Amino acid sequence: MNKIETKIVIGIDHGDEGKTKILYNYYKTGQYNLALRFNGSSNRGGTIYHNNKKFIVHLFPIGVVLGIKSIIGPGCVVNEKMFFEELEEVTAINPDSPKFVKIAHNAHVVQASHLEEELCESKIGTTKRGIGPAYRDKYARIGIRAESINSFKPYLVDVSEEFYNKDNIKLLCEGAQAMGLDIDWGEYPFVTSSHCGIGSVINNGVPISSIKSVEGVIKAYSTYVGAKQFQDINDPMLDKICELGSEFGATTGRRRQVQYLDLNLVKKFALMNSINVLHVNKMDILRELKCWKVILDNMIIDCATEENFKEMLENYAYNHVKYYYSPE
Ligand code: IMP
Ligand code: MG
Repeated sequence: MNKIETKIVIGIDHGDEGKTKILYNYYKTGQYNLALRFNGSSNRGGTIYHNNKKFIVHLFPIGVVLGIKSIIGPGCVVNEKMFFEELEEVTAINPDSPKFVKIAHNAHVVQASHLEEELCESKIGTTKRGIGPAYRDKYARIGIRAESINSFKPYLVDVSEEFYNKDNIKLLCEGAQAMGLDIDWGEYPFVTSSHCGIGSVINNGVPISSIKSVEGVIKAYSTYVGAKQFQDINDPMLDKICELGSEFGATTGRRRQVQYLDLNLVKKFALMNSINVLHVNKMDILRELKCWKVILDNMIIDCATEENFKEMLENYAYNHVKYYYSPE
């Protein structure tokens, strides 16, 4: 095998932790030459500020914006119409985008019927992008693979060729959604339909031995979009965090429910994925509100100061890693 080195960035909470910002900054270092989306689809809503303009990426790896070969992997599902709409959007930013975007031949297709089926879905509060029905049909072996869609032909790749037959691949794997929404590890049925952790990366054909770093991302507090009750509606501080943190979904515009950071959950998912770096975003929101609460064993604990908050997180939740707080 030729040399391939992989870094993985995944969500450790319930999504919207700020993964895309971190990925974008990694690409900007110029150290990566291949990008991979390994799970999900257009349900992702990743926000970046590129040339001082806000841009939201859904289906594509964000690497494409910076001119990096970007693969929608075999673990993803793709809708033809949404693919070409997003291709137009990224091409407006980077005219060479059509050269950089690739689709794994064995990724599955979100068909028009899947989208229709989800139009009225409200039981778990999906993003209505047809994701669940597409994965269902994949596993029922009645789905369609990307290779059978004519308009996808110029974009198709076999990821095994991309990973094993080229020299000096520096791969960045872009997690979408998060462990708290994982089909197996989230609170079923309030979950997405894919696997959001490192297992999923490997199932996309990435060799385990190439993985040099697994980075988890959380916010200083937790948010969730969907139908289950997540926020304690009797705590007005959580509404303040929502407003100050602009916690509204990038894909559907829905208000995100807010809760304090659950340290048991962070610990579990960090260990499960052998995280070696943990990024903690949106520290400024708690700083401004002077609210340093966390949840431990289902109880709210007031850490009172930022210093104690960090100590609690690092010592209790997960002390095997390097922590990066943002903003510092
Ligand atoms: P689906 O992925 O559209 O099937 O939605 C399943 C659940 O995952 C819903 O609660 C969605 O709101 C949530 N979800 C899906 N993608 C994201 C994401 O990128 N960020 C946050 N929540 C998401
Ligand atoms: Mg998002």
